[in-house]
Amino acid sequence: MHTDEGGCQPSQTRGYTHRGAVSILLVLPVALARNSTCCEALRGAGLAHVLYPNSTAYENRTESYWSVSAQLTPYCIVQPTCTSDVVKVVNTLLKGAACSSTKFAVRGGHTTWAGAAKIDDGVTVDMGFIKTVTLDKNASTASIGTGAFVGVGGFMTGGGNSFFLARQGFACDNVKNFEMVTANGDIVHANADENPDLWQALKGGAGANFGILTRYDMYAFRAGNLWGGTATYNKSTSAEHIAAYVKWTDNVNKYTAGSNILIWTYLPSLVDIVILTAYEDTEGNEWPAGFEGFKAIPRITDTLRIDSHKGLIAEFEIGYRYRDIWFTMTFANDPEVYTKIVEFNQAFVDERKASSDDPDFGTQCMTQSIPTIFSKHSVEKGGNIMGLDKLDHNVVMLLSNIAVKTAEQEAVARPPLRYYGEKMQDFAASKGGLIDWVYLNYADWYQDPLASYGADNVEKIRTVVRKFDPQGIFQTKAPGGFKISKVGTGSGAGVEERALYGDVM
Ligand SMILES: Cc1cc2nc3c(=O)[nH]c(=O)nc-3n(C[C@H](O)[C@H](O)[C@H](O)COP(=O)(O)OP(=O)(O)OC[C@H]3O[C@@H](n4cnc5c(N)ncnc54)[C@H](O)[C@@H]3O)c2cc1C
Ligand SMILES: *[C@@H]1O[C@H](CO)[C@@H](O)[C@H](O)[C@H]1NC(C)=O
Ligand SMILES: *[C@@H]1O[C@H](CO)[C@@H](O)[C@H](O)[C@H]1NC(C)=O
Ligand SMILES: *[C@@H]1O[C@H](CO)[C@@H](O)[C@H](O)[C@H]1NC(C)=O
Ligand SMILES: *[C@@H]1O[C@H](CO)[C@@H](O)[C@H](O)[C@H]1NC(C)=O
Ligand SMILES: *[C@@H]1O[C@H](CO)[C@@H](O)[C@H](O)[C@H]1NC(C)=O
Repeated sequence: MHTDEGGCQPSQTRGYTHRGAVSILLVLPVALARNSTCCEALRGAGLAHVLYPNSTAYENRTESYWSVSAQLTPYCIVQPTCTSDVVKVVNTLLKGAACSSTKFAVRGGHTTWAGAAKIDDGVTVDMGFIKTVTLDKNASTASIGTGAFVGVGGFMTGGGNSFFLARQGFACDNVKNFEMVTANGDIVHANADENPDLWQALKGGAGANFGILTRYDMYAFRAGNLWGGTATYNKSTSAEHIAAYVKWTDNVNKYTAGSNILIWTYLPSLVDIVILTAYEDTEGNEWPAGFEGFKAIPRITDTLRIDSHKGLIAEFEIGYRYRDIWFTMTFANDPEVYTKIVEFNQAFVDERKASSDDPDFGTQCMTQSIPTIFSKHSVEKGGNIMGLDKLDHNVVMLLSNIAVKTAEQEAVARPPLRYYGEKMQDFAASKGGLIDWVYLNYADWYQDPLASYGADNVEKIRTVVRKFDPQGIFQTKAPGGFKISKVGTGSGAGVEERALYGDVM
């Protein structure tokens, strides 16, 4: 066991300003009146950053969740600044008497549904100050604090797709070493030599099942500028896009420098669906042969250019500060299934347009290839727990979502999104094209991604959880996210989310 704790640096943000009396009164009945014994104990343990609902810092951190749906009101937010702070957090939250009846959640901030990474009735552990990124001397390993702004905390333990996926494998496959604080307050490392079972289980097994992750040491590689950007098309070109994408999916194994995301998006500004695609060539080649099938389709607009990774990612600023509802499924690379999914999406959008009393909403029906080369990389790099290596053919993943403005709109939009998602699944199944694999990072609370990894992988995760958290404290005291103890209970998340959403179907 290493004792490398990383130096505790003074945090970047100082001198929190507090709001005036009027807004304190507004906030008080909601959250401050609750039992703050545990929060005081966290302060007493020497943690300098404990935010209460009466501060602007608390409000700022709450507002920083991508999806408004995820913004809950914990008793307090604790912000560790280094690994030894996280040990103090764990010792206080999990072992101390003051917190014996207090639940908690660990946050990055991108999961769209309430309760994944934040809690109403407890304490939120906000990793936002643990964000240092360093490169080792010869630039072979990058060490990344799990609270770094890019949302790595949950992203990495849910798989992690990127423009480099076909070249490098999932983000999680590129973790050489995880640093984690266990329920017992121990700092453990997981890599090919040390705790290899934990190393494998963390690669897709949802971090919050095992402990609090503090650092990811990743294999680094050199990358220059990319060619790419987005292009828009009239939805009347759907059939051409589907035909080209089916070919594309089967070609990724031979053209690994590319990435191609195809989206049917409803834009309130156009009051219509347009096709938006994100093309990327990670080697910086303009219109490489791999994109041939798309080049001839007439574009309305495009931003295609040579740019940095950061510049290209910036274009993906989708739906921020809305209430986001997501649904994901995986289907065979079959044009008939694909076409039907796009038709169901059109029906869903038409229905929302006709019945929503707030025109300010947007949708995406986003498809991404999952060719077999992805799991080939995974296996070569030590193996992950997602079970994709069982698939011997190329498939396609769907993310269907809607972003709305109010809680009322969210309640109204949830059932139809789920209904059309189930229609899509049923149609795919009727053609033998429903793939039993659910991408954790895109799944809504009622889906069960861990179960979709297969019984053998579920059992591996269970074994590792028992080893590092024998009493299952993270299963009960940190109820958010997809829990191994909830697998097969009808929802990977569980009763808390059922209550939050009123078990909305
Ligand atoms: C705008 C946007 C773009 C996205 N783009 C991509 C993309 O390109 N590729 C992709 O794969 N996904 C993408 N996603 C999905 C994203 O990967 C998931 O929402 C993911 O779960 C976000 O994780 P997070 O790091 O923000 O953590 P959170 O959403 O805060 O947490 C997710 C889960 O991980 C747990 N967790 C977080 N940090 C820790 C920690 N340090 N230790 C233990 N448990 C922890 C939480 O408790 C929670 O259960 C995107 C999402 C959005 C909103
Ligand atoms: C905010 O609430 C905490 C906890 O109750 C309290 O200790 C602190 O003094 C309050 N701050 C202000 C400015 O009211
Ligand atoms: C909160 O956010 C506002 C707006 O971004 C900023 O001006 C303010 O300094 C922040 N306050 C704290 C305490 O972080
Ligand atoms: C607050 O919680 C602590 C620990 O669970 C308990 O001892 C204490 O009595 C509670 N205080 C109130 C006012 O409920
Ligand atoms: C870089 O350093 C690591 C250890 O820090 C070593 O294993 C690796 O061989 C080095 N690579 C090169 C190209 O020097
Ligand atoms: C798409 O093409 C149709 C005609 O085929 C046209 O009426 C419509 O305005 C076009 N939509 C966009 C967004 O350009």
